[in-house]
Amino acid sequence: MRTAVYPGSFDPITLGHVDVLRRAAGVFDRVIVAVLVNPRKAPAGEADGRAAAISEAIAETLPEVVERIEVRAFDGLTVDACRAAGAHHIVRGLRAVSDFEAELQMAHMNHRLAPEIDTVFFMTALEYGYLSSSLVKEIARFGGDVTAMVPPGVAARLRASAEGGARL
Ligand code: PNS
Repeated sequence: MRTAVYPGSFDPITLGHVDVLRRAAGVFDRVIVAVLVNPRKAPAGEADGRAAAISEAIAETLPEVVERIEVRAFDGLTVDACRAAGAHHIVRGLRAVSDFEAELQMAHMNHRLAPEIDTVFFMTALEYGYLSSSLVKEIARFGGDVTAMVPPGVAARLRASAEGGARL
């Protein structure tokens, strides 16, 4: 069974992330979405909320592979999350050349820390190449329409949050 870990902040998960996840599920038998949560910065319960939003987003957008995808929160090193999951591959998405330098550095560093683990890159689909979680959050905060950028449940949570309701 080939297992990969797809680590990230996913704050929030976007359709670009979903696209990378779909591609990864085409190559690996099992994909663990590892959600980085810093317990020193994140309020209590934030980890569970973000993981729940991601699980819901996967069920909505990738029903054909949902059974092979698992969502886990983590707060240490990505390579430790990989070892805990029995994974020998890290999945990351590349949107543009501007992503490359930081990703190359992380891939080399992770390989230095754990030589048995390799990073695999998927090119995010062109239509999502402009997406970023921080831009999505900013647009939503000011009442902009993000329905073409994030899964439906995430869009609803962002809308509710902008209107002063639930946190993401
Ligand atoms: O979605 P992001 O913010 O681009 O994800 C970055 C992430 C979570 C992959 C990266 O910050 C990470 O791996 N953090 C965990 C701590 C770690 O392993 N640091 C060393 C990386 S070489």
